[in-house]
Amino acid sequence: MIAVTGADGQLGQALVRRASGLGIGVLALGRAQLDVTDSARISQLLGAGRFEAVVNCAAYNAVDRAEDCPGEAFAVNAYAPWLLAQQGIPLVHVSTDYVFDGVSERLCEVTDAPSPLSAYGLSKRAGEAALLESGARGLIVRTAWLYSKREGTRNFFQTIRRLARERPEISVVDDQVGSPTLAEDLAEAILLLIRAGAHCRPMSLFHFAGKGSCSRFEFARAIVRAEGLDCRVRPVHTGAFPSRARRPAHAVLSCSRFEHACGVAPRGWLEALESREAWEVL
Ligand SMILES: NC(=O)c1ccc[n+]([C@@H]2O[C@H](COP(=O)([O-])OP(=O)(O)OC[C@H]3O[C@@H](n4cnc5c(N)ncnc54)[C@H](OP(=O)(O)O)[C@@H]3O)[C@@H](O)[C@H]2O)c1
Repeated sequence: MIAVTGADGQLGQALVRRASGLGIGVLALGRAQLDVTDSARISQLLGAGRFEAVVNCAAYNAVDRAEDCPGEAFAVNAYAPWLLAQQGIPLVHVSTDYVFDGVSERLCEVTDAPSPLSAYGLSKRAGEAALLESGARGLIVRTAWLYSKREGTRNFFQTIRRLARERPEISVVDDQVGSPTLAEDLAEAILLLIRAGAHCRPMSLFHFAGKGSCSRFEFARAIVRAEGLDCRVRPVHTGAFPSRARRPAHAVLSCSRFEHACGVAPRGWLEALESREAWEVL
């Protein structure tokens, strides 16, 4: 039996769906059932059951808003994972490529020193550090550019698809490079890590993202093509869309530790985008 917090988010939903499909018992805890900053409620819900792992999919993800509300971001992204780890149940926590500054163009290794550019990135790094120093068992999976094609989710894919349906032309930045990652692929990767027993060891870091990389512009163009839409995508520089938070220009995660632990590599980001088949290796 596993417990999933943030179960109504795109990753939470994917994880609950896949674990249930595999016959794994799941306690799905959306925000209405569990506010992850509420320590009494955490003890009440998690202290009562026998869980193999808690998978924390709850997060404060509003990257620009976090610049003005860092307290909220830190409460959900740093304090809450530490609270969850206090239950003595192995914790699987999810973090982000935004802990890196994206200055170097080489792959980001799990051993590289983080250097966040934004309040969101700082709050996610604080969550990682709290867990790594907590003495708890578990693992932290950093991912990037997470999206789901399922209706009702909120992400870059959904925004581009909606805009491309409404407009003849859209502009997208071409100087931010990363690796689009399908939420369903990440859910599979998390369940693979659990099956490999990685969550039972002292807290450690893994990376998982779609293989390869692209710019936001290339990702948007691929979405328009994959969805068969008639919309021109125009490349622009980041400066064309002034935003509150700075974002890494080039953050591509090396997944070699994941590949070594699970014996399988992530599929390519474009294959995941274009395929109607789920990446099912379990
Ligand atoms: N999205 C990306 O591009 C991306 C990239 C890299 C890493 N990540 C990481 O991947 C993980 C999963 O992200 P996601 O894209 O699935 O996020 P998501 O779709 O935004 O889901 C996050 C969920 O957490 C919930 N939540 C927020 N505050 C909470 C609280 N105090 N208590 C309980 N639940 C709370 C949200 O509820 P509300 O909707 O009610 O706020 C939402 O259902 C996160 O750790 C995120 O930082 C995401």
